[in-house]
Amino acid sequence: MPISLGRSAMLRALLALGAACAALPAAGQGVGQVVVYCSVPEDWCNAVARGFEQASGIRVAMTRRSSGETYALIRAEAANPRGDVWFGGTGDPHLQAAEEGLLEEYRSPLLDQLHPWALRQAEQARFRTVGIYAGALGYSYNRRELERRRIAPPTSWADLLRPEFRGEVQVANPNSSGTAYTMLATLVQLMGEEPAFQYLRQLHRNVAQYTRSGAAPARAVATGEALIGITFQHDAVAQAVQGAPVVVVSPAEGTGYEIGSMSIIRGARNLENARRFYDWALSAEAMAIMPRVQAFQVPANRNAPVPPEAPDFSRLRLIDYDFARWGSSAERTRLLARWDREIAALPR
Ligand code: F6P
Repeated sequence: MPISLGRSAMLRALLALGAACAALPAAGQGVGQVVVYCSVPEDWCNAVARGFEQASGIRVAMTRRSSGETYALIRAEAANPRGDVWFGGTGDPHLQAAEEGLLEEYRSPLLDQLHPWALRQAEQARFRTVGIYAGALGYSYNRRELERRRIAPPTSWADLLRPEFRGEVQVANPNSSGTAYTMLATLVQLMGEEPAFQYLRQLHRNVAQYTRSGAAPARAVATGEALIGITFQHDAVAQAVQGAPVVVVSPAEGTGYEIGSMSIIRGARNLENARRFYDWALSAEAMAIMPRVQAFQVPANRNAPVPPEAPDFSRLRLIDYDFARWGSSAERTRLLARWDREIAALPR
């Protein structure tokens, strides 16, 4: 039914509309801030913060910590949350946080642009997290140092136990690092739990240092500080493209992988801005930042370019990683406690 207004009513309506529009921020002119806990490398965190600020006008307060550390922080702050969004880091601790009621449900309108594996991560957590990239686990070695010492290149998990690698391997601590937890859960799935712990006990003799951050061992290999670094393959690729004498290995027995994830923290103080950040971060435009900061994971948005340097999943021997099980609160807590008791406590 057509609606007709008198002149003065029309004027009043136009004035009211004008006032309403003036109160709304225009595109790129957001208000307030969003607090982002970031679990990818610093350069990527900063580029994401700048990109979103430019696109939205909303200020980003960003802090970087490894995946396990961020999970622990969100848990510690549960009664009084300070963060709004958790961006990146391995999916297992995101799934654990979702199960423990630490994350907010959100169904972004951009979900239909994602690869099925990224969406599955969201469905598994009843939309309390979502996949934003995928990366395969592996290790790297310093080619120059190996040649100098005439050591045959390793190709498998078993090779890492060779006596010539005593004190020459770096890997992170699985409590702080999602990478190292992915390794722990991968070995358990690949070998069975008892043989995996037997393997980790032997590996412990060769480990020089358990680092906090998962990618640090790849940097140590690049400088020659370590001969071998167990990391995600893309973190070693990032060193190789910068010219370091680093060779990336996908272990012969097979390997695990991560679905790097993003979540909104339950009780977020800036919930509306958190949703805007989340939508933007799922866009192909935001994911195009990755190769620019040498992040060579596979992006979750189907329209985002996959960098040619990204390890080709179709050519890797991957296990069927059971994220529901190894990302569950009971199993992640149990495995980490067992690692602390039986591995970290061992003398070397
Ligand atoms: O460096 C990038 C990255 O490997 C991500 O792919 C991964 O989600 C994250 O780091 C894991 O970092 P951490 O092991 O320190 O938790």
